[in-house]
Amino acid sequence: MKIELLQTPAATAETELLVIFAVNTSTSKDPEAKPEIALLANDKALAGAAQLVLSSGEFKAEPSETVLLHAPQGLRAKRLLLVGLGKGTKTTQHVLRRAAGTAVRFAKPRGLRELTMTLPGAEGLEPQAAARAIAEGACAGDFDPDTYHSNRQDRSIARLSLLAGEDAEQAAKAGLREGTILGEAQNFARVLVNEPGNRLTPTVLGERAAEMCRKYGLRCEVYGEAKLKELKMGAFLSVAQGSEEPPALIVMTYDPTDTPAGPVLGLVGKGITFDTGGISLKSAEGMEKMKYDMAGGAAMIGAMQAIAQLKPTVKVIGIVCSAENMPSGKAQRPGDVQIAMSGKSIEIINTDAEGRLVLADGLTYARQLGATHLIDAATLTGACVTALGMVNAGVFSNDEDAYQRFAAGLGLSGERFWRLPVEDDYREMIQSGIADIRNTGGSRWGGAIIAAMFLKEFVEETPWVHLDIAGVAWIEEQKPWIAKGPSGIAVRSIVEWVRSYAK
Ligand code: BES
Ligand code: ZN
Ligand code: ZN
Repeated sequence: MKIELLQTPAATAETELLVIFAVNTSTSKDPEAKPEIALLANDKALAGAAQLVLSSGEFKAEPSETVLLHAPQGLRAKRLLLVGLGKGTKTTQHVLRRAAGTAVRFAKPRGLRELTMTLPGAEGLEPQAAARAIAEGACAGDFDPDTYHSNRQDRSIARLSLLAGEDAEQAAKAGLREGTILGEAQNFARVLVNEPGNRLTPTVLGERAAEMCRKYGLRCEVYGEAKLKELKMGAFLSVAQGSEEPPALIVMTYDPTDTPAGPVLGLVGKGITFDTGGISLKSAEGMEKMKYDMAGGAAMIGAMQAIAQLKPTVKVIGIVCSAENMPSGKAQRPGDVQIAMSGKSIEIINTDAEGRLVLADGLTYARQLGATHLIDAATLTGACVTALGMVNAGVFSNDEDAYQRFAAGLGLSGERFWRLPVEDDYREMIQSGIADIRNTGGSRWGGAIIAAMFLKEFVEETPWVHLDIAGVAWIEEQKPWIAKGPSGIAVRSIVEWVRSYAK
């Protein structure tokens, strides 16, 4: 989608679909009273065109509510779409992001390939934040997962124009650029997550990452089994050994020149391209979904794409540990003992707790490459889904400053994460009789925390943020603003975390 800024007055904009955002400013408590609707556009022609429908009382400007007018009076646009932002005079970039997605998803099934939005002016919403939210929401709304329908028609939006006044031009331009970069990075992660296990193997994931790095000027190495052996990545290798597909260790480096010595950020993602559970085989029901077990890795690849374009003044190393978790005559067994890259021995209790194994070596490697601060993302535990459902993802941290930076970024990304503890009292659950630690807690309780405690063994004292995105990496039901399927969660929040360390 090409996104551009225009200074045309709304009345003269020639477009298939002109979108205006509106709020419900009613203060009356009477449910029968007609809603008072305010358009977030200071424009007489727009007010005139919308007047009849607004006075009808049919449109309440609920979030994502829409009403369409054909041939709106006094406008050159072919259609006018009002999109609601909810009650009150204030609005937020989160509400606007969804509304922009809603407008895009309104246009797509109608075969419209181009639309125009007016930059809303509202209390508490700066033009830069508003433009950014519109670009992010529009990109997210444009994605559809129907890749392999043989009769697929390309319904994607070719062009989005944003109308902004002269006073807002610079800010809106900057916001659009940021929002487009972030929205496209999120969609790139979604494209990868959407691919099935037979088409996106660890090797292919490595190729896609390398291709992105070439395009955006990042260094990229993709290592295979030989290098994993050389690095003594016994935990990572143990997961890969059951599959015919070779593993891939993807290392993407963003190293801006002229950056004074400072923190080095390590981004580590779980890239299991399919998780059968291995010998501790999962049940058949819903197993097809385990193609999305590389969503944490995809988030890191997407984040690196945005970082390469936004160019924060901080060094970043992105690592994806990619393998396929399969049962076979070569697969690891419960009871096996593996030696991780760090030298720690691990008793395998359940081969389905494989994400923490690949991450253990990924985190160790990031530290060996010089990472001073770590963040990981993984579809790690069903227990996290039990705890937080499909609304919030889990966040864990051993460091207050690193966590606070992440939490501050959520204010910008609008993504929802809820903090869960990592505390020493949980450590005894991964104590093993035969090895240093075991890979599961042996009880169903606190499974997301146990997994985090396992990872903590490998980050040691390095400041670290862990994201368990199992419940939110896949959207189960379509929403007016976003399709069912991969969500691209965490890409934008990770980028904000990275930017917080820039000088
Ligand atoms: N990939 C799964 C976690 C998962 C579950 C992701 C649901 C998305 C949705 C992970 O590898 C796994 O199987 N975890 C086990 C751990 C258990 C064996 C300790 C789980 O959560 O059941
Ligand atoms: Zn598993
Ligand atoms: Zn898994």
